[in-house]
Amino acid sequence: MSTAPMPEFPAGFRWGVSTSAHQIEGAATAAGRGPSIWDTFAHSPGRISDDSSGAVACDHYHRYAEDVALMAGLGVCAYRFSIAWPRVQPGGTGPANTAGLDFYDRLVDELLAAGIDPVATLYHWDLPQPLEDAGGWLNRDTATRFADYADLTATRLGDRVRLWITLNEPFIHMSLGYGIGTHAPGRMLLFDAFPVAHHQLLGHGLAVAALRARSTSPVAIANNYSPVRVLGDSAADRAAGAAYEALHNRLFTDPLLGRGYPELPGFDPSVIHAGDLDTIAAPIDVLGVNYYNPTGVRAAEEDSPLPFDLVGLDGYPRTAFDWPVAPDGLRELLGWLRDTYGDALPPIEITESGCAYDDVPDADGQVADPDRIAYLDGHLRAVRSAIDDGVDVRGYFVWSLLDNWEWAEGFTKRFGLVHVDYVTRARTPKSSYTWLRDLIAASRPGSAR
Ligand code: FCB
Repeated sequence: MSTAPMPEFPAGFRWGVSTSAHQIEGAATAAGRGPSIWDTFAHSPGRISDDSSGAVACDHYHRYAEDVALMAGLGVCAYRFSIAWPRVQPGGTGPANTAGLDFYDRLVDELLAAGIDPVATLYHWDLPQPLEDAGGWLNRDTATRFADYADLTATRLGDRVRLWITLNEPFIHMSLGYGIGTHAPGRMLLFDAFPVAHHQLLGHGLAVAALRARSTSPVAIANNYSPVRVLGDSAADRAAGAAYEALHNRLFTDPLLGRGYPELPGFDPSVIHAGDLDTIAAPIDVLGVNYYNPTGVRAAEEDSPLPFDLVGLDGYPRTAFDWPVAPDGLRELLGWLRDTYGDALPPIEITESGCAYDDVPDADGQVADPDRIAYLDGHLRAVRSAIDDGVDVRGYFVWSLLDNWEWAEGFTKRFGLVHVDYVTRARTPKSSYTWLRDLIAASRPGSAR
């Protein structure tokens, strides 16, 4: 870790933390909440590595005031959370479930009282199960349903949410949820999952219009990006790199920024109706960037169903998820976005960045996580360098405030600045929390640095 002082961030830089509803809330049936695809998936044998589910998770639904106090103690000015669609519309259609929205009303007011901007993601992968039963995101109608849900949510919260995020990582949802089936809803369609991309993007565009009609707050989407490192220098390796680049980094960005879809092998464009691309390209105010690691790519074996092979990258330290720790990839990615999209690129906020380690409390109950401190230090310096390179980055949200239920990994991967005991649900700030608190305090105007 660098011993040089952390360079100053621009005035007004948005320091934040991120979570998502299904990973922290629990209270799976409270106030009329309906089942989501993740409830169904977690209750199917063999899907979750520790056979757990998100039914209780961090019990944030009941402990949200304690969690907002932790954020206030950290000194963040923004909190990115997600709203559970099955709380707002238990069946995915019809009028709002007022009791479900009441929870977010309380949360938003608690945040505002603590001086923290509520940043609400509408969809972080928890589709109401009845919509999946009707085809999920393979069904064009889900896009319209999503816009209705956006309308109902913004009608209630549009005066207080400070930034809207429509979708979280539609690429990961499509590829893991519908492409290879390791996430809910567990379908294995490979490239036949393309309609899921188009319908999510269409839902995004329709939701942008719905949000604009009910709220004057800015609107964003949070995409996952991974700089592509091509291993090998044959034409086939380069073609594989370009195919993966198109799939991971461009499929959900080119059409948003008015360029239509990139060339992709195997993708059937027949789901695109007249006018869809204009709906999808509705202007957004911020691009949310979720970054974890670069991806190594080389040419596929001859009998592979995919046009690329993904390979591990050597030479980097690794997290407990075995992901390479590569802050240089974040600077590279931000430069790539600016160079690729130029003036069409809106201001960026890093809406997720973080790491999993096997953090264990010591005999005194303290949790030291020096690797996470080094991770955050490196990635924040990368963001600062990108700002120096001329990329307009306005904020950084750490994934995550709390250790939480990490999807198919259950409770086995800890990403939090705050440790959660999954027996008592007790919260213990880790040493990274104290480190970040001091860094944020030092970056305030008027603080002595
Ligand atoms: C991202 C997800 C988030 C969390 C982190 C580790 O892809 O958006 O919910 O799982 O990875």
